[in-house]
Amino acid sequence: NKKGFIFDLDGVIVDTAKYHYLAWKKLANQLGFEFTEEQNELFKGVSRKRCLEILLEIGNREATKEEFDTWMIDKNVDYLEYIKNMDASEILPDVPKILQFLKENNVPIALGSASKNAQPILEKVGLLHYFDTIVDGNNVTKAKPDPEVFLLAAKQLNVLPENCVVFEDAVAGVEAANAANMVSIGIGDDKVLSEAQFNFVDFTEINTDFIKELLEK
Ligand code: G6P
Ligand code: MG
Repeated sequence: NKKGFIFDLDGVIVDTAKYHYLAWKKLANQLGFEFTEEQNELFKGVSRKRCLEILLEIGNREATKEEFDTWMIDKNVDYLEYIKNMDASEILPDVPKILQFLKENNVPIALGSASKNAQPILEKVGLLHYFDTIVDGNNVTKAKPDPEVFLLAAKQLNVLPENCVVFEDAVAGVEAANAANMVSIGIGDDKVLSEAQFNFVDFTEINTDFIKELLEK
């Protein structure tokens, strides 16, 4: 049974979740309300458009079509400024160890992210070459928790969904992986990601024997 591994980007490979948060917080403050890190959990894995809709609900703000579009652009401009100087030092601990192990074992690897900035980020941190395919916010119409992004990744890897393993830091992402009938591995707080089949705080907790077991299943 050929296996495939699918990685989310933000909060799994790189700690960009904090930059997304800062950019949304800046917009919220400009619009005159607060936006907490706890509220930011709802934004993880969620498309830019949906994030702004939720933000406006939080702030009890209405927006015209023009305002909505402008704020989406503003947020991304700020986000791009935060990630401008990103480099390999921002790769989360032991991510390359796992990618390297998979490569050495000829396991196909995909990125499955809601972000439209995924490819330039992988380039900046020098990890692009590990990925056989990239499915991101530019390729999908339905956002996580819909399984579309992961199902498309599996298809492009030519691996059956049930033979795919997904690493996710977002509740919506874990739900998407489960809905796709894939093995879901939560990276982060196991209380938040309680629906995941396996939980790890980060990749330093994952050893290659565990990966081997997944490959042999
Ligand atoms: C990821 C992040 C979300 C973000 C989404 C869209 O899934 O976890 O917080 O909103 O990507 O990112 P983008 O870079 O396209 O604004
Ligand atoms: Mg994420």
